[in-house]
Amino acid sequence: MTADHEIHDTDDLIPLTPDRNIALELVRATEAAAIRSVPFIGRGQKELADGAAVDAMRAFLTTVEFDGRIVIGEGEKDNAPMLFNGEHVGTGRGRSYDIAVDPIDGTTLTAEGRNNALSVIAMSDRGTMLDASSVFYMDKLVTGPAGVGVVDIRLPVQENIRLLAQALGKPIDEMVVSVLNRPRHQQLIADIRSTGAGTRLMSDGDVAGGINAARHDARTDMCVGVGGSPEGIVTACAIKALGGHIQGRMWPRDDDERQRGIDAGLPMDDVLEAEDLVKGNNTIFVATGVTDGALVAGVKRQDGYLYTESVVLRGHSGTLRRISSDHLESKWL
Ligand code: FBP
Repeated sequence: MTADHEIHDTDDLIPLTPDRNIALELVRATEAAAIRSVPFIGRGQKELADGAAVDAMRAFLTTVEFDGRIVIGEGEKDNAPMLFNGEHVGTGRGRSYDIAVDPIDGTTLTAEGRNNALSVIAMSDRGTMLDASSVFYMDKLVTGPAGVGVVDIRLPVQENIRLLAQALGKPIDEMVVSVLNRPRHQQLIADIRSTGAGTRLMSDGDVAGGINAARHDARTDMCVGVGGSPEGIVTACAIKALGGHIQGRMWPRDDDERQRGIDAGLPMDDVLEAEDLVKGNNTIFVATGVTDGALVAGVKRQDGYLYTESVVLRGHSGTLRRISSDHLESKWL
C-alpha cells in the first residue's frame, strides 16, 4: 500500500483537480546545494561545504514562484549573510509560506566524508511553523503511524519501547531505536538496551534518523533523544506526510537560554505535539542526499554525470516521492 492510500480523513481526500506541487520546484534547490557540496565531501572544512550549499540553495529559491519567509535559517541576519531568519525568498508572487532550510544537515558528516548528510528544505503555510531557534536543543520522540496515540515522550523510554513493540506486533528484541551518540545520552542508551531492544547510534543527522524511524519500510522503529530544535521542526514537516508520531520538548542548556526561550514565547515546560511544531497538513519536505544514507543515496560522480537522489514528502496528499536526476557535470563543477 502506498502512502497515498493511507489517508483516513475523508475531508482531506485528494481533489480530482490536483493543485500545484511547489515541492518539485524546491527539489532543484536541494539538488543544487547537494551538488555544490561535492568538492568539500571529506575535505575537513565544514564551513566551506555549508557556504557552498547555502549559496546554491538561495540562488534557486529566489526563482520559485512563491512568497517565502525563512523561519528557520542559518541564524540571525548579522551572522548569516544569506538565508537568515526572517529573510524573504522566492519571487514574492503566489502563496505565502514559512520556510525552514538546512542546506546541509550533517556538516561534520560531509567534512569527514561520512554517511547520512542531507540537504533539506521544509515548508508550511505562513504563520504555521514554530520558530524554536532561540533554544538550540529539543528532546524528541519520533515513530511511524503505529506509535500514534500509543507512545508519549512523558513516559520512560523503556515503556515506550514496550508499547510500540506491542502495537507493531514485534518482540522487543527485534526493536531498533536510533539515538544521537552523545555523552548526554549515556543513560538513555543504557535504558534502551536494558529492554533488550537494539540501538542505532547516529554520529550526526537526526532529521534522517527521525524520518527513517517513521517510514514503513525502514530498519528502525523509533528515534529518541536531544538534537537540534530546528531539526525537530523540519522533521515534523516530514512526519505529517508519513502519518507518524512526533513530540518535542525544549531542552535549554542553562538558565540564560531558558530565559531566551521564555522571552521568545516558547512553551518551555510543555510537550510540543506535531500540531504545535507545525500547524496543519499543508507541509512539504524535500531532501537530497549529500552523502549516502538509508533515506537517500548521496551525490554520485561518474562518467561526466552527477547523480542525485531526493525525496519529496507532502503532508496534504500523504505522499513520499523519490526523484533521481542525472546532471551533466560540466554544467555544474
Ligand atoms: P549540523 O549539520 O548543523 O552540524 O547538524 C548536525 C546535527 O547532528 C543535527 O542533525 C542534530 O540535530 C544536531 O547536529 C545535534 O547537535 P549536537 O551535535 O550539538 O549534539
